[in-house]
Amino acid sequence: MVVAVSGGAAAIKTPFVLRRLREAGFEVRAAATDDAYRFVTALSLSLAAGGEVFDRGAWFSPRGRALHLEWAAWADLLLVAPASADALASAAGGRGDDVISALVLAGARRVAWAPAMNGGMWRNRAVQRNVERLVADGHLILGPSEGAMATEGEEPGPGRMLEPEELTARVRAIVERSDLRGRSLLVSAGPTREFLDPVRFISNPSSGRMGYAIAEAAAQRGAEVTLVTGPTEVRPPAGAELVRVVTAEEMLAALADRFDACDALVMTAAVADWKAAVPAGQKQPKVGERRSLELIRTPDILETLGGRKRNQVMVGFAMETDEGVTRAAEKARRKHLDFICLNYPTREGSGFGGDENEVTLVTTDGASEPLPRMSKRRLADIILDRVARLLGSWVEADRY
Ligand code: C5P
Repeated sequence: MVVAVSGGAAAIKTPFVLRRLREAGFEVRAAATDDAYRFVTALSLSLAAGGEVFDRGAWFSPRGRALHLEWAAWADLLLVAPASADALASAAGGRGDDVISALVLAGARRVAWAPAMNGGMWRNRAVQRNVERLVADGHLILGPSEGAMATEGEEPGPGRMLEPEELTARVRAIVERSDLRGRSLLVSAGPTREFLDPVRFISNPSSGRMGYAIAEAAAQRGAEVTLVTGPTEVRPPAGAELVRVVTAEEMLAALADRFDACDALVMTAAVADWKAAVPAGQKQPKVGERRSLELIRTPDILETLGGRKRNQVMVGFAMETDEGVTRAAEKARRKHLDFICLNYPTREGSGFGGDENEVTLVTTDGASEPLPRMSKRRLADIILDRVARLLGSWVEADRY
């Protein structure tokens, strides 16, 4: 693991972080920005890490290899501790002009940030925006915690770097992150298409992003994931088996085949509710001014599978325009769900398309937990925290 230090008062604690990590059995290397050296010396970092420090001097010393590429490829985790507002901003902005952002750009497999700064700075919208961006890119944020700050007279508040012991415990939970290991997850995503004739269909604008984010997050947490997806343009997530379907019936068949063997089903698909009673075999000519079409219901996939539920955790999504919580709770009961994620398609940044979503988690008893608007990737982890908890395998979440 590479532990990278940026410029902040908490940098004096990084040698202790390195020591604790080594005591816990991790192989560590230290990296430092120029500003980090205002607070901690290269010698103390190198002694604590037991090796050379990757800093600007080392980076630009004559050699035939690129250190940032080499170190990023070597590390199973890049831990930035402390992470200053600047370090977060550089990485969120895609820069590569200091050793930390270069390691991030060079493709460090996993990146965890341990922010440390004044509480007001931490709460600043610009900082939070950068944090959100990094989380949306799959990075982890550890802390900060509440507590005494370095500057004289400063109010205690959120902004303190986690203590070396706690950071070590969190890092261990990430590296060994296994709260869904050995679990099999079925995720559905995207719209379905119900054909009226060979070239026309009924569908909806679902992008599939929510389900793809859940599949990606679950795979990263060690689950065996099958993603059953309607037609979408989204890049398939790494580590998940992809099953492409078109109609509601095909989606039901694909999920039914795998349902008995799964531990959890997260159904984000926007299944079309209606299909043509008698689809035409040929493209229908454009004749007359008015025409009616007989529609029949597609199968309700969740309700069908819910009837076969043994001990699987089941999660659904519901879009409502009014009386959301009551209706969503009723749906959760009818479909045998453990909980349902309710969103309001009429609200900006919620529901179909986009990279963000705003949902309220609702259980069958009508209890509800509204969540703030956030990236679909981050929401995916929050939903999976609940799933893992229901499966009895939750480990302490590593986010603020
Ligand atoms: O009843 P409603 O369509 O609002 O319920 C939404 C939830 O039910 C979603 O999780 C959706 O994936 C699922 N659903 C389904 N089969 C249908 C329609 C919706 O499984 N035919």
